[in-house]
Amino acid sequence: MSVSIRTRLFASLLAVAIASAAGLSWYFLNQLESIGLRALEERLASEARLAAGLLGERGIGGAESLHGALVATDPELPSRLRVLDGAGVAVADSAGEAGLGIDYTERTEVADALAGRYGAFTRFGDDGRFGMFVAFPIRAEGQIIGVAYASAPTVSVTILLAEYRQRLAWALGAFLIATLVLAELLSRWLARPLRRLETGTAALAGGDFSVRVEPVGSRETRAMAEAFNVMADRVEQVVSELKNEERRKSRFVSDVSHELRTPLTAIRGAAETLLDGPVEPDDAERFLSTIVSESDRLARLANDLLALQRIEGATGELPLRRMDLAEISRRAVAALYPLLEERGASVEIAGAAPEVLGDPDRIQQVIANLVDNATRVAEGGMVRIELSAEEDRAVLSVIDEGPGIPEADVDRLFDRFYRTEASRARTSGGSGLGLAIVKAIVTAHAGEIEAGNRPEGGARFTMRLPALKD
Ligand SMILES: Nc1ncnc2c1ncn2[C@@H]1O[C@H](COP(=O)(O)OP(=O)(O)OP(=O)(O)O)[C@@H](O)[C@H]1O
Ligand SMILES: [Mg+2]
Repeated sequence: MSVSIRTRLFASLLAVAIASAAGLSWYFLNQLESIGLRALEERLASEARLAAGLLGERGIGGAESLHGALVATDPELPSRLRVLDGAGVAVADSAGEAGLGIDYTERTEVADALAGRYGAFTRFGDDGRFGMFVAFPIRAEGQIIGVAYASAPTVSVTILLAEYRQRLAWALGAFLIATLVLAELLSRWLARPLRRLETGTAALAGGDFSVRVEPVGSRETRAMAEAFNVMADRVEQVVSELKNEERRKSRFVSDVSHELRTPLTAIRGAAETLLDGPVEPDDAERFLSTIVSESDRLARLANDLLALQRIEGATGELPLRRMDLAEISRRAVAALYPLLEERGASVEIAGAAPEVLGDPDRIQQVIANLVDNATRVAEGGMVRIELSAEEDRAVLSVIDEGPGIPEADVDRLFDRFYRTEASRARTSGGSGLGLAIVKAIVTAHAGEIEAGNRPEGGARFTMRLPALKD
């Protein structure tokens, strides 16, 4: 059975309160009883002593008159005084004739007194009531001539205790009610932070990742709330990342299928026309070259996708080599020569940059992609590759004299399959994977890449890589 922490706290507080109240009551009742008995004994002792002193001087010879005097004392007096002779036999008794002549030597306190000591005892007396008995020797000229024997029922102490017990019961009742209220409030107050934590945890478990708990209460509950909040932050972050990833993946898949459809439709159209019947030789050649170029495009697309996947999926294990960006740039331009020739473009390499560590083939791919884009948008124009150093980085910029990048597209340029309006309109456009590959490669090299426009017109793509310290 699961009991709430509040109930447990309430029960514990109540148990502690009741146990301590009961213990204290028991202790004080006992104390009170012994205090009452001691006071009674002191009173009896002083009475017996007083009598013993008086009789020691006067002697107990005149027993008759002594008895008469004792009986005549105030009948309201709670104590009883007996005078015994040297043999322990009662010769005077404040309670009356009946007690006279009784031999008390059997009683320890009387035996003590006859032996010259003070004697005291509590027992049931002849009247059947529980009482306190005190005996004191009566001395005359060094001889023990008798005993002053005082007694009183302890009922006064019992009555006192009973009265006290009753008051205590009332007080305990009031105390219990106050304790109940206090325990209820305290347990609520102590359990509140845990309750909040419980509510928060349940909400998080139920899928509300925005829930946070205010750190209140004791050090432990505060720490728990803080830890909970940290955990909730992480969970929320991971969940949103997963959602983004999910979205990216599904967009990627639909983009890929869309990209595949265009060349496939063109190939299929051309092939069908050729199959349908005789075509002019010129047309046939045109259709066949469409098939070839669209197949090329499909192959390129497949290659690019594969490259992208490899770079992004790589676990940071690039074959690293020391390399000079100027040399890699020259290599990239040389490889692009036929293309540049075709586009009537020229590329100039200027400046110098510190050496960097990386995969030369991949960096060449980056430069080739940037130059390919630049010469495509600005046909017949001039493209510059500028090298420089910036703090602890090597910087490479590719600058063209084209139309530049529309402000609205700057942020999405590096997304897969993203193309600006202008290049989508152009039939010669690529698939929009070039810059995504560029970005993936640069990121894998712990570098950055950004796109922007030059004030004098044309675009500028700037790549920064960590420079090698020697
Ligand atoms: N130098 C540039 N000036 C203006 N726009 C550019 C420039 N470079 C790239 N872009 C724009 O960015 C888009 C994305 O470039 P990216 O290289 O990723 O794709 P792509 O060149 O169209 O195709 P791919 O490179 O896959 O053959 C281009 O379609 C183009 O609209
Ligand atoms: Mg490109």
